[in-house]
Amino acid sequence: MKKETVLVTGGAGFIGGHLVEKLLQKYHIVVLDNLSTGTMMNLPESPHLDFVFGDVSQEEDVAQVFATYTFTYIFHLAAVASVAASIENPVETHRINMNGTIYLLHAAQQQAAHIQKFVFASSAAVYGSEPTLPKKESSIIAPITPYGIDKWASESYVITYSQLFGLKSSAARFFNVYGPRQNPTSPYSGVLSILTDCFQRVKAGDETANFTLYGDGSQVRDFVYVGDVVNALILLAESEESTSEVYNIASDQRHTLLEVIGMYETITGEKLPLTYQTARAGDIQKSYADIEKIKKLGFVVEDSLETGLRKYY
Ligand code: NAD
Ligand code: UD1
Repeated sequence: MKKETVLVTGGAGFIGGHLVEKLLQKYHIVVLDNLSTGTMMNLPESPHLDFVFGDVSQEEDVAQVFATYTFTYIFHLAAVASVAASIENPVETHRINMNGTIYLLHAAQQQAAHIQKFVFASSAAVYGSEPTLPKKESSIIAPITPYGIDKWASESYVITYSQLFGLKSSAARFFNVYGPRQNPTSPYSGVLSILTDCFQRVKAGDETANFTLYGDGSQVRDFVYVGDVVNALILLAESEESTSEVYNIASDQRHTLLEVIGMYETITGEKLPLTYQTARAGDIQKSYADIEKIKKLGFVVEDSLETGLRKYY
């Protein structure tokens, strides 16, 4: 029997690669990616995977993909995923993160009768630093960066296309995602990728390995393992009830950065050399989510921070 076809934009990235791996168990996958931050090494070899090198912010690239395939599900993850990059280059970020979303929605709408769900990767960045916690989907939206503004605008388009044009869609606000293949090389990489890299260097006897802790370590985050994010995305795609809705994707746990470091020291059996520096400008002191809404769809968090870190390490 012919498998149904699924589009994953940004499929060669950190989260996209994990999503593709899982979807391949059931579907034929088309990845649209320009390899700007992604790599073919994140993608498995499979006769059920077609890689299309293309740019979501080029309307003709998007149109070409939709002229070639008919999709059952679409996961839109392609984006400039770095907040720092969005501050350095707001115009270029907007072109990719906003225009890319509209081109995809516009093309997908022509296939709306066939598409079961268009799932968009949004971010906790839409909440900005407004202090009310935990963040619910109904909490105040107050993005403080070009990245957060474009995620919020894209979400609004995604839900509006669902309501106006019948293209069934959902948006997912990821909190701090971590796991294998997250790139640790930029100072703005996710803190757990930087910590993992540091612990591995300590283990290998590298005496220069040192972790810079910005602030006093009391900042709180909701770290969600990439495998749980993949499960949540597939659940949103396959659920009828999630149509036209926005969901937090997080772990139901919160930890201070010092707790995380302590937990990682226990897991690795290594002591991490630390240097303290003043907190980063604009750093959010506490960020964590209420995930009751997605739990009502049947979402279960499989990995605690401890089990997730053990797998990652
Ligand atoms: P990533 O940088 O590893 O993946 C992004 C992918 O998109 C890469 O493969 C890249 O090559 C591709 N891409 C970028 N611009 C493109 C373009 N113009 N056309 C086609 N492909 C393009 O980042 P990630 O961490 O895997 O993030 C995936 C998605 O999740 C992004 O939308 C990001 O904003 C969102 N998100 C991530 C986190 C997190 O903690 N990692 C948190 C919130 C939201
Ligand atoms: C995350 C997202 C960002 C989003 C923001 C708000 C990532 C990589 N970033 O930022 O896109 O806008 O949530 O929702 O997922 N830290 C150190 N040392 C380091 C690196 C980081 O002490 O070497 C600290 C940071 O100052 C911060 C904490 O660790 O307090 C977490 O940092 P990071 O992983 O970059 O994520 P957020 O700042 O939460």
